[in-house]
Amino acid sequence: MRENLKGKTVLVTGGAGFIGSHLTDKLIAEGVEHVVVIDNMFIGNVVNLSDAIATGKVTLYRDDAEISSSVDAIFDEHDIDVVFNCATKALNYSFHNPANAFDTNVRVVLNLLEHQRHGHFKSLCHFSTSEVYGSAVYEPMDEDHPRNPTTTYAAGKAAADMAVESYVRMFDLDAFIVRPFNNYGPRQNYEGMLAGVIPITAVRVLTGKTPEIHGSGEQSRDFIHVSDTVDAVLRLFEVQPAGETVNISTDNQISVNELIPLICKHFNYDGEIIRKEARGSDVLCHNASNEKVKALIDYQLTPFEQGLASTLDWYKDRIGEDLK
Ligand SMILES: NC(=O)c1ccc[n+]([C@@H]2O[C@H](COP(=O)([O-])OP(=O)(O)OC[C@H]3O[C@@H](n4cnc5c(N)ncnc54)[C@H](O)[C@@H]3O)[C@@H](O)[C@H]2O)c1
Repeated sequence: MRENLKGKTVLVTGGAGFIGSHLTDKLIAEGVEHVVVIDNMFIGNVVNLSDAIATGKVTLYRDDAEISSSVDAIFDEHDIDVVFNCATKALNYSFHNPANAFDTNVRVVLNLLEHQRHGHFKSLCHFSTSEVYGSAVYEPMDEDHPRNPTTTYAAGKAAADMAVESYVRMFDLDAFIVRPFNNYGPRQNYEGMLAGVIPITAVRVLTGKTPEIHGSGEQSRDFIHVSDTVDAVLRLFEVQPAGETVNISTDNQISVNELIPLICKHFNYDGEIIRKEARGSDVLCHNASNEKVKALIDYQLTPFEQGLASTLDWYKDRIGEDLK
């Protein structure tokens, strides 16, 4: 349905982050001519793009996609065909600065949609998040599940999705939404309050700190390996209709009570696990429906224990480097 990406010039917002950098690698491997990245390095890291930059096919702007003139400058400079919008500030940031967490998610996509409306690029793939659903009203959560955000991060993401949907209706744009569930894999941020549960626990154990479980530990997540997400996104690019949303997830639920011991076991840690208070607004369950993605593409998933083991080994190597 959509032309394949070979030979195209692609803009990736947030491309020095976790998913964006894997997406950039994959785009280059698939034969894209040039990838332009805009990332303000809020959490992004140029190291994530080392391999991609070494190909000579990446132009990196350390700039802020919330600022419309920064985005304008990129469209003035480059003849962009397709945009993948991955820029965001991590969910936990919304507990520190609720307004800006919301604003980032909304402003970036509006800046892009305005350029698309004026014909400056053809197709937009916008990254949503399972967080827009809030806690499950029914399971598994399909794409029609009510949006009921519990954080300003998720509210901003839901608003951004609605912006994409309404621009498509109003201006007949070629824009579609992919909605990943929890991703894991190499390069996921492991520092500070913005890190996710797998990196935090891995790094605590690797640096001699005691791992923690917040709340009852019964909260469950549907973890998907980042390589499976970017693979699915590029396959969806060719077939997903404009204006539609597709969940990207696995059929596996794992609770924090099951996950933390798996990480401990990988590192041969058999010490204490501390119980802490539940984090405010933590959704209890994210059990996704994959029916739509499976109907659209050949959907291949990495077995969780295999993906977790290689991810934990990556953290071990990285922490080793950082401690040198
Ligand atoms: N990681 C997950 O589990 C997950 C799950 C569901 C959805 N998503 C979505 O996937 C996308 C990518 O997430 P990620 O996990 O790679 O996050 P990430 O934080 O690793 O990457 C986001 C990148 O955006 C950059 N950024 C932040 N504000 C910016 C701004 N104003 N201008 C330019 N760059 C800016 C950050 O520096 C970072 O490099 C996001 O839209 C996120 O909502 C991620």
